[in-house]
Amino acid sequence: MYETWEELEKSIENCNKCKLCKTRQNIVFGTGNKNAKLMLIGEGPGADEDRLGEPFVGRAGKLMDLAFEAIGLKREEVYIANIVKCRPPANRNPEDDEAMACMNYLRNQVILVKPEIIVLLGSVALKNILGKEYGITASRGKWIEKKGIKYMPTWHPAALLRDETKKIEFIKDLKLVLEELNKQ
Ligand code: URA
Ligand code: SF4
Repeated sequence: MYETWEELEKSIENCNKCKLCKTRQNIVFGTGNKNAKLMLIGEGPGADEDRLGEPFVGRAGKLMDLAFEAIGLKREEVYIANIVKCRPPANRNPEDDEAMACMNYLRNQVILVKPEIIVLLGSVALKNILGKEYGITASRGKWIEKKGIKYMPTWHPAALLRDETKKIEFIKDLKLVLEELNKQ
């Protein structure tokens, strides 16, 4: 574990701990407020993120921004990262060996940010962070507290592109998060 962002960011440069290093264009480390009370964790970079080196800048990201706007949450206030930092080919789900190889970077990011709340965006984030026994359909919209951090699982923004009711539920879940943040 690194105690500074500089050391952590340096340690990931040219990472080749898993096979995703072979096909990536850019490592998508994470972005946002490094002292955020709220952190969001996605799955992994897509094509746009791979090209630009930033998380959630493609279609799903733009939809997430709209949802943030709708409830008055500013993207600059939160910290956003992914389970894997390199794009899985053809946007397939990250495989277990890849998620495991990459997990220490994410753990270190969580330790440095020290968020009060973590929003888990979709099934891949939920299962890799809280355990394979969790399913997103049953878990979304409900708080799960572990080791002093409050987790809120919700839909992955890409799922909202296909389903209007999920959009409503996503906003509902984010509102719960905002209420909790405002209590503190
Ligand atoms: N989907 C993700 O899970 N993460 C991103 O950064 C972009 C799309
Ligand atoms: Fe390294 Fe993570 Fe990229 Fe794999 S996904 S090469 S572990 S940074």
